[in-house]
Amino acid sequence: MVFTAMLIALIFASTPTPLLSSSAAAAKPNCADRCGEIAIPYPFGTTPECYQHYSFFVTCNHTFTPPKLFMQNSSVEITDINVDGQLKVLQLITKDCYARNGTSILKSSPLIELPHYFTVNNTANKFMVVGCDAIGVVNGKRLSRDYALGCTAQCEASDDLRLREGSCNGIGCCQTTVAEDVWRLNILLTTYSNYSDVWDINNCGYGFVVEEKAFKFSIENLNALKEVERLPMVVDWAIGNGTCEEGEKNSATFACKSPISACYKPETGYGYRCRCLDGYQGNPYLQDGCQGL
Ligand SMILES: *[C@@H]1O[C@H](CO)[C@@H](O)[C@H](O)[C@H]1NC(C)=O
Ligand SMILES: *[C@@H]1O[C@H](CO)[C@@H](O)[C@H](O)[C@H]1NC(C)=O
Ligand SMILES: *[C@@H]1O[C@H](CO)[C@@H](O)[C@H](O)[C@H]1NC(C)=O
Ligand SMILES: *[C@@H]1O[C@H](CO)[C@@H](O)[C@H](O)[C@H]1NC(C)=O
Ligand SMILES: *[C@@H]1O[C@H](CO)[C@@H](O)[C@H](O)[C@H]1NC(C)=O
Ligand SMILES: *[C@@H]1O[C@H](CO)[C@@H](O)[C@H](O)[C@H]1NC(C)=O
Repeated sequence: MVFTAMLIALIFASTPTPLLSSSAAAAKPNCADRCGEIAIPYPFGTTPECYQHYSFFVTCNHTFTPPKLFMQNSSVEITDINVDGQLKVLQLITKDCYARNGTSILKSSPLIELPHYFTVNNTANKFMVVGCDAIGVVNGKRLSRDYALGCTAQCEASDDLRLREGSCNGIGCCQTTVAEDVWRLNILLTTYSNYSDVWDINNCGYGFVVEEKAFKFSIENLNALKEVERLPMVVDWAIGNGTCEEGEKNSATFACKSPISACYKPETGYGYRCRCLDGYQGNPYLQDGCQGL
């Protein structure tokens, strides 16, 4: 297994990659820096010597072609990691489907739970509900508080012409902003009449938090989402506990390791982040990570 990982690391090391992406992707020495095409920059890593904290533990599963990357040992799939503090993940969507006689034929409501240091990005994502008889509520935790919000998507056959591409305004689709600092969420769907009034046009409701620019509502979604398992979501990450000032007090644990980096506090979420100083780029979390442009 270790041998395979080394072999793969060697293959990738010998593949010429653009300077920008290879420096931005820097992992610790002797650590896998890629899972297929996905860069794994430190503090992320696939083994304890390679990640900074268990929260940044990722698993590269080679039984998939190309291999897939997962958060820790969870089913949350990661498709992109950047050192600026964002991750892109693919998240299971909630579904609620009915037979013509009104009995439930499919109900799924996956729990999304992010590790410490990770929160749902509240500007890039929207909570959306799609369906003609769908009432959606998202329940969850923001920091240590409970929160809930919801919206309702309705439509009738006569609304068909109004179900316009890209508009999510309550007719067949509704959306709301996600609160700040959310790390756990569970989307629940219910109906007014088990789709009995709208069954001929739509018999399922769907709920998800999705990267806004990755999902445009169209009338086809009412049925096509049945075949969709996961949709992309943007997750923020930070490091350390508390503020920059608190972190700087202990140089052994302070995460901004590059001498040409600076610490800053993100607008939302836990902890702090590091960035290379102007004129430098790379990975501020590594001693030699920031390099001149
Ligand atoms: C990789 O994925 C397969 C298929 O889902 C699963 O059976 C296997 O346990 C996974 N392996 C690891 C190391 O997570
Ligand atoms: C992941 O590993 C932790 C610790 O080993 C364990 O408690 C947890 O149940 C595991 N989760 C899954 C989904 O396997
Ligand atoms: C409703 O329809 C489903 C699927 O067609 C069928 O399995 C079920 O037996 C029906 N239930 C009743 C109460 O008619
Ligand atoms: C609607 O669905 C719910 C939950 O699946 C079920 O308990 C209820 O009996 C259904 N109502 C009708 C009118 O079929
Ligand atoms: C930060 O706090 C969390 C929660 O209390 C803890 O799990 C984690 O280990 C802490 N991290 C560090 C670097 O101290
Ligand atoms: C949320 O994502 C946007 C776009 O990717 C980014 O500009 C913003 O800084 C992120 N928010 C936080 C708190 O990281």
